[in-house]
Amino acid sequence: MIHPDIESVLLSEEEVQSRIRELGAEISRDYEGRSVLLVAVLRGAALFIADLARDITVPVELDFMAVSSYGSSTKSSGVVRILKDLDEQIEDRDVLVVEDILDTGLTLKYLLKNLASRKPASLEVVTLLSKEGKRRVPITCKYVGFDVPDEFVVGYGLDFAEKYRNLPYIGVLKPSAYQD
Ligand code: IMP
Repeated sequence: MIHPDIESVLLSEEEVQSRIRELGAEISRDYEGRSVLLVAVLRGAALFIADLARDITVPVELDFMAVSSYGSSTKSSGVVRILKDLDEQIEDRDVLVVEDILDTGLTLKYLLKNLASRKPASLEVVTLLSKEGKRRVPITCKYVGFDVPDEFVVGYGLDFAEKYRNLPYIGVLKPSAYQD
């Protein structure tokens, strides 16, 4: 059953899960013989990191950061504030940042600069979704799950006003759900 606020399903649960398995296999090959510290950006990437970690076969550690981004609007503010920092030291570690969606890239650009200054052995990014057309700053993202069109999407961790994160698929919201 599709949620009544969802106009269309962009990526089904099966499509999302099978792509995550592929990403996990690719990451496992690339990090063969090493361990990887997965760093998720809360809260959107929480579901993705949980599934991805289980599809990676090399040793994995998890850490979390929270930054301010959208509030409850659908436009990127470009204002980034660290609300919760990492618990781990990342110097000389292989760090893989796990993102839910890469939009303008402003959030990630700030984050990568901040993490790079802590001198990790390597620093890469995996994002489940990417809105290539919206990019305002160039970002090197080694692993991309899906390129998606410029529509506001929810589900599988992504929210609108903190709702819809628990949908197992990625869907486009009906305008009536965000226009009062
Ligand atoms: P950026 O700084 O514009 O790249 O924004 C990245 C953040 O904005 C993501 O981590 C999401 O939290 C949020 N975001 C961007 N696009 C969407 C969307 O379509 N649905 C839900 N959240 C989004």
